[in-house]
Amino acid sequence: MAKFAPSVLGADFSRLAEEIKDCDRLGVDWLHLDIMDGHFVPNISFGPGIVKTIDKLTDKFLDAHLMLSEPQKYFEPFAQAGADLITFHIEVHPDPRRHCRALKKLGIKAGISLNPKTSIQKVFPYLEHFDLLLIMSVQPGFGGQAFMNSVLSKVEETRAFIDKNNLSTLIEMDGGIDGENAQRCVDAGADILVIGNAFFKSTDRMALTQRVQSLHR
Ligand code: DX5
Ligand code: ZN
Repeated sequence: MAKFAPSVLGADFSRLAEEIKDCDRLGVDWLHLDIMDGHFVPNISFGPGIVKTIDKLTDKFLDAHLMLSEPQKYFEPFAQAGADLITFHIEVHPDPRRHCRALKKLGIKAGISLNPKTSIQKVFPYLEHFDLLLIMSVQPGFGGQAFMNSVLSKVEETRAFIDKNNLSTLIEMDGGIDGENAQRCVDAGADILVIGNAFFKSTDRMALTQRVQSLHR
């Protein structure tokens, strides 16, 4: 069964507490937190203060996606704020093992991500060290963009690599996912789906949650 992680970036921040409570009520699996620095991506979102606020509102597993040029500077602040897993991008460092060790030392899970244009071959040598691989299905920076079908082949290749090498690394997909393309993501091999706009703007959040959580290969 697929796991569902709403991206809080798509929430109504004027009602943040209610939005988080609604995610709790619906029984989503994780909360995905998109952190942007205006440098690695052309947008700025929120920092550890908001993550701490969210952590106080819920017991959900907090999945922090750092779209930052220097993610290592912020590992500790986000871990202290309550992040259970921190993902950073392979584009910021060609050898991500040191960052991975730093995250493990903080007692949290480690994820690695790649942009649509980055070759999946770049992450394979490091996959065994990571709890999660986040495959971007849009160019990161903004919610509400169109899903890139072309990344599905990366997910298939990764699924085959993980299965062949008996790894426990989870595959997460993020960007432009909705009730329509979710099945394709899971068929390709994704374990966790991040959905921002299609969830928070949905008129039937419960139906979408149940639909995503019932998907399987
Ligand atoms: C993109 C972010 C995504 C995005 C998801 O930079 O990493 O998490 O906000 O939102 P939707 O589902 O609206 O693309
Ligand atoms: Zn994200």
